Amino acid sequence: MKRSIGARTVMYPTPVMVVGTYDVDGKPNAMVAAWGGICCSVPPCISVSLRKATYTYECLMERKEFTISIPSKNYVEEADYLGLASGRDTDKFKDTHLTPERAEHVNAPFVKEFPVSIECRVIGIHELGLHTQFIGEILDVKVEDDCLIDGTPDTDKIGPFLYSPGNSSYFATGEFLMKAFTCGKKFMRK
Ligand SMILES: Cc1cc2nc3c(=O)[nH]c(=O)nc-3n(C[C@H](O)[C@H](O)[C@H](O)COP(=O)(O)O)c2cc1C
Repeated sequence: MKRSIGARTVMYPTPVMVVGTYDVDGKPNAMVAAWGGICCSVPPCISVSLRKATYTYECLMERKEFTISIPSKNYVEEADYLGLASGRDTDKFKDTHLTPERAEHVNAPFVKEFPVSIECRVIGIHELGLHTQFIGEILDVKVEDDCLIDGTPDTDKIGPFLYSPGNSSYFATGEFLMKAFTCGKKFMRK
């Protein structure tokens, strides 16, 4: 039997996305966001929901362009710091010794050390409540050469990690289970 635990932000898993923006003076900033993910295939879009209190919200309202960098599990502590400190008070790139690199298609920085970066232009803004949802159209995705197998990003090599809201913890991704869009076919009527 299931027991109700109330209306809470519980969902498994959530991504660990690092949102990169420039502020009005051109200072690069990065923050962690777990509330979001892919939200449309054509055009390819990603959503991130930000509180108005974040510096990133301010920068994004100004610039309407951002990147998502996906950290590998070697950088859990750096990523966590990007979710603790505010770019309003400090330079988080300097603090963590991470390198901001200007994106090619948008006016926003990505984190050089992280294996995947996604370049996005805001095409929708939705006021939801505490969070404002930004929809970014994906203009390009860049993946480190050594994380690609035959041109396809390899999860093991990227080594992403996940955030579990229920117990505020990070987890590595697990082992391969089965092929998607394939393993369920056995239930199809002939
Ligand atoms: C694991 C994790 C997930 C987070 N997810 C979000 C989120 O989805 N939206 C949000 O507004 N803040 C989120 N935060 C908090 C922000 O990252 C934090 O407030 C950060 O200091 C904002 O940085 P900024 O002021 O430089 O933009 C998260 C923090 C952590 C550690």
